[in-house]
Amino acid sequence: MGLVKGPVDLLVELHRRSGLPLHEQLERALRDAIRTGRLPAGARVPSSRSLAAELGISRGVVTSAYDQLVAEGYLETRQGAPVRVARGVRAQPPRPPTPSLVPKFAYDFSPGLPDLAGFPRDSWLRSVRAAWREAALDAVGLGDPRGAPELREALADYLGRVRGTAADPEHLVVCTGFRQGLSLTCRWLRANGVARLALEEPGWHAQRLIAQEAGLEVIPVALDAEGIDVPALESSGTDAVVVTPAHQFPTGVLLSPRRRTALIEWAERGDRLIIEDDYDAELCRERVGALQGLAPDRVLYIGSASKRLTPGMRLGWMLPPSWLSWALISAKSIEDAGSEITGQLALADFIVRGELERHLRRMRLRYAERRAVLLAALRRELPDLSAAPPRDGLHIVVHLPDDVDESSLLASAARHGVGLEGLSLHSYTGNCPAGLVLGHACMAEPALARGAKLLGTAYAEAAGGVNKMRG
Ligand SMILES: Cc1ncc(COP(=O)(O)O)c(C=O)c1O
Repeated sequence: MGLVKGPVDLLVELHRRSGLPLHEQLERALRDAIRTGRLPAGARVPSSRSLAAELGISRGVVTSAYDQLVAEGYLETRQGAPVRVARGVRAQPPRPPTPSLVPKFAYDFSPGLPDLAGFPRDSWLRSVRAAWREAALDAVGLGDPRGAPELREALADYLGRVRGTAADPEHLVVCTGFRQGLSLTCRWLRANGVARLALEEPGWHAQRLIAQEAGLEVIPVALDAEGIDVPALESSGTDAVVVTPAHQFPTGVLLSPRRRTALIEWAERGDRLIIEDDYDAELCRERVGALQGLAPDRVLYIGSASKRLTPGMRLGWMLPPSWLSWALISAKSIEDAGSEITGQLALADFIVRGELERHLRRMRLRYAERRAVLLAALRRELPDLSAAPPRDGLHIVVHLPDDVDESSLLASAARHGVGLEGLSLHSYTGNCPAGLVLGHACMAEPALARGAKLLGTAYAEAAGGVNKMRG
C-alpha cells in the first residue's frame, strides 16, 4: 500500500510532436512508473479531470489511458472509489545488465570467425532480392522441414562437385549450422540407446558441450600425424564418432588415406556412425574430398555457412545416411519446423550464380596472405615459440615452452587488449601440450602485426612471471 493517502503527484512528460498518440504516451509513462515501483501497489492516481487539467490535455485522453491500464491489470477501479494502482502489482527493480558472452578485444585472435569485412554484401543483396522477387507464394510459408527445395538442389549439386559427396536433395536437410546438426544427432543417439560418443582429442570444444548437453558421455580419442587413432577408437567401444577429416580442428591434420579406409571399416564392422564435420574444407588450398562420398551409408556429413560465408547467417546442411534421414528430418521439424527462408533462398541463388565459389576463391587467397603475415610477425615478436601451423585455413597453432603457463599468458594478453584461445580449451583430457590457437582470418594485415607485437609483450610478462617465481 502506498504511503500517500491522497492522489499521488505524477511526473508525466508528454511530447506533442513525438508522433505517438498522447493517450499512448500517458499509458507508457504510467505503466513504467508502476513497473519500477515509483507508483506503488494501492496508490491512488489523480482523477481523470485533475490530471487532464494538469497536463493540458482532454479528459478523454486520460480516461482512455486509464481504461487501457485497467484492462491490463495495472490499475483498478471500484464503483464510486478513486482509481488506484492494482493491489496485486509487483514492482520489478531494474535488472542488472547481463554480462556480454562475447568479450571484446582490440586484437582478437579467437579462431571462430572468417573475414567479416570480406562478406560479399552487394552480391548477397542481389540474391536476397532475387529470392523474394522470384519465390512462389507457398515457398515463403511454413515449408518442408528439410529446407527449401531450391537450396537442397543447389547444395546437392555444389557438394557433389566441390566436396565429392554423394548428395541426394531428397535426403539433404538444411539446418541452422553444424551445432544444430550435431545436437539433433546426439539426441537421436541418446534416444536410441547409444550412451557414448567418441571425439577427437584435442577437438573443437563445442562438440563436447553439445554431446554432453544431449546426455552422452564423451570419449576422447587421440590423434597422430595421420589423424584419429582408429585402433584406439576400436578399443573405446563407442558406436559413433565425430571427426574433422579434411582439416582437423584445431591441429590441422589431414586424415590420411589409410586412416580413412580404416575408419570406414570400423564403422561398417560394427554398424556404427561417423559424423563428419566439414567446417572449412573449401578454404584450404590442399583439399581432399569428403569422407561421406566413400561411405554415404555410414557417414553423416555436416557442413555450414559459418566459415564459408559468415556464422551469423546460421545456415548449415546435413547429408545423413538414408537410414537416419527420416529421424533427423522429424527431429528438425519438431525443433523449429525448418530453417529461416530468406537466407535459404538467397543462398540457393548465390550458389547457382557461382557467387559462393567466387567468394571462396577470393577468401582462400586472402587467408593465405594473412597467415603469412601472422607467421612472419610471430617469428619476429616471439622467436622462441614454435608455430606448428596447420597447413591451411583460418587459424594456426602455436606450442608454448614448458615453462610458460597458458592461462597466465591468456590473462596477460587480455590485459593488453589481445583475445586468445588456449589449446587446452579444446582438450577434454587436459593432457594436450600448452599452446595457442590463433585465428588470422578476421584481422587485416596491419592489425595482425600490431596484435602479434602486443602478444610478444604479454608473452614476455607471462614468461618473466614464471622465471621470477623460480628465481
Ligand atoms: C570445428 C568446427 N566445426 C564447425 C563449426 C561451425 O559451427 P556452426 O555451423 O554451428 O557455426 C566451427 C566454427 O567455428 C568449427 O570450428
